[in-house]
Amino acid sequence: MTELFANFNSMDRIIKISNNIMALSHEVAADLSAIINNAVRRSHHLNIALSGGNTPRTFYSVLGTHYALSTEWKAVDFFWSDERCVPPGDRESNYRVAREHFFERIKIQAGKIHRIRGEDDPQTEAIRYSELIKKKVPFRFGFPVFDIVFLGLGTDGHIASIFPGDEKVLSSVRTCEVAVHPETGQKRITLTLPVINNAERIIFLVSGKDKAEIVAEILNNPDAKHYPAGMVNPHFGKIYWYMDLDAASLLSQYA
Ligand code: 6PG
Repeated sequence: MTELFANFNSMDRIIKISNNIMALSHEVAADLSAIINNAVRRSHHLNIALSGGNTPRTFYSVLGTHYALSTEWKAVDFFWSDERCVPPGDRESNYRVAREHFFERIKIQAGKIHRIRGEDDPQTEAIRYSELIKKKVPFRFGFPVFDIVFLGLGTDGHIASIFPGDEKVLSSVRTCEVAVHPETGQKRITLTLPVINNAERIIFLVSGKDKAEIVAEILNNPDAKHYPAGMVNPHFGKIYWYMDLDAASLLSQYA
């Protein structure tokens, strides 16, 4: 049972505010399971790009413990929105987090999980992953169309590994790029904005008081284009914001 605090819809932006990270995780897990099972009923296949960082941990655990058996995972190929250039067993690996909290608890063929090989040369892997996506994901308007791209939100307004001021990545028309974390210098591989904006559904998962300011900046400020998160503007899909009360606490119309 999810405990939705508030639900605000506009033409292309849906905001769901839950009481806390657990309620948020149940809300998005329930919706994702329904999307997947509906797709199976219509014999559709889904290509989903998972997000990284800490926020999705609870979401992955909820999926793995509450939806493992009730969801038709066979209809999905999983990808990542970005990955740190580290080995798959590294504590920093986005793949490791999803594997431990989610994939190890569901029945899914290994061939449907397309991790970014963080242990390989970044440039080579960015090309390999782009080629893989080109092979597996349908294209529209010259870019792959993921059914869902999950995103987190950095306090600096970054999404995936698209950081403010990283002009090379921000202006890229490739499928994937190599990025560098501005503070740690850690290399990353990331989907690019044209790919993210080409998705049918862009789903933000945002939790915690430390995100309240940037969330308000992005959602209360239509021209917050100087943040990568402010450049998320789906070509034909919809944006879903799943947040907890802390992250949404400075939103003017919902405060
Ligand atoms: C990553 C993510 C990154 C993350 C945000 C939020 O690889 O770190 O893709 O974009 O989603 O930095 O991270 P938290 O969920 O840890 O706050």
